[in-house]
Amino acid sequence: MELQLGVLGVGHLSTAILQGVFEHGVLDPGSVLLADRDPDRLEDFAGLGCPVVPSTELVRAPRILCAVRPQDFPAAAAELAPLGSEHLVISVMAGLGSDSIRSSLGGACRVVRTMPNAGAVLGCSMTAVARGPGATDDDDAFVERLFGAIGLTVEIDERMLSAATAVSGSGPGWVYLLASAMHDAAVAVGFDSQLADTKVRQTILAAARTLETSGQPFDQLIEGIASKGGTTEAGLRVMRENGFVEAVVAGITAARDRGDALGAADQ
Ligand SMILES: NC(=O)c1ccc[n+]([C@@H]2O[C@H](COP(=O)([O-])OP(=O)(O)OC[C@H]3O[C@@H](n4cnc5c(N)ncnc54)[C@H](OP(=O)(O)O)[C@@H]3O)[C@@H](O)[C@H]2O)c1
Repeated sequence: MELQLGVLGVGHLSTAILQGVFEHGVLDPGSVLLADRDPDRLEDFAGLGCPVVPSTELVRAPRILCAVRPQDFPAAAAELAPLGSEHLVISVMAGLGSDSIRSSLGGACRVVRTMPNAGAVLGCSMTAVARGPGATDDDDAFVERLFGAIGLTVEIDERMLSAATAVSGSGPGWVYLLASAMHDAAVAVGFDSQLADTKVRQTILAAARTLETSGQPFDQLIEGIASKGGTTEAGLRVMRENGFVEAVVAGITAARDRGDALGAADQ
């Protein structure tokens, strides 16, 4: 069978991607080479028919998904290098620029960077895709198919990857903070912690499903439940007066700036 992809590092993220890719029939397991330090992580996929190889042999595949932790990449790159211009490297690694990835691998390979989020394991990732040096339309199309199997993809300029990480990569964290604050507020108005927890989770689930299925703009959704002089309107007014929106904008901007600083340190 013609090899399509090699995967370096079969941890949490690669496992989610491979499950989506095989479930949706995007690739045949026999066409995907896998390498990881821990053989236990490979057992299930080997059972499906994926060839397991030492990382040095991943170069047999025309495309290599690099899914090791960023701090493990220099050692991993030494096992793969040098790659030629016939190789596409697809990175999910946060903070490593495409030029730096390319030069660690010998300076000739094509690179596409991606930034999925924790939704990958549920098939609802928001993945940003950024073309790096040498990448072609065909490379983009392949990457879209790969990450389309675990959710939505959007193509952006690489300079916007830190911003994408701040909005959607770290995004679940902002919602968890809101959940935690709502829980504390529910306790403050008299519910016990367990009931507060249940009420918050179910409420955010309902809001998430509405956001998923309704095409209405956010302002209209808010208007739809905030009748004049009512309870929701009173709460929203006080939240806004207390800087809710400004705090969210400042937090996301700080996350973007931290991503840029980490990326600059890698250069
Ligand atoms: N998890 C997410 O939701 C998410 C979202 C966006 C981006 N990412 C990015 O995705 C990458 C992987 O994240 P993850 O959460 O999947 O990490 P992970 O679960 O730790 O998986 C990484 C895997 O790579 C293996 N590995 C490291 N160096 C290797 C080498 N030289 N040869 C073979 N295998 C090697 C690790 O083995 P050991 O454990 O033995 O070291 C581990 O099994 C990171 O760069 C992260 O920034 C993750």
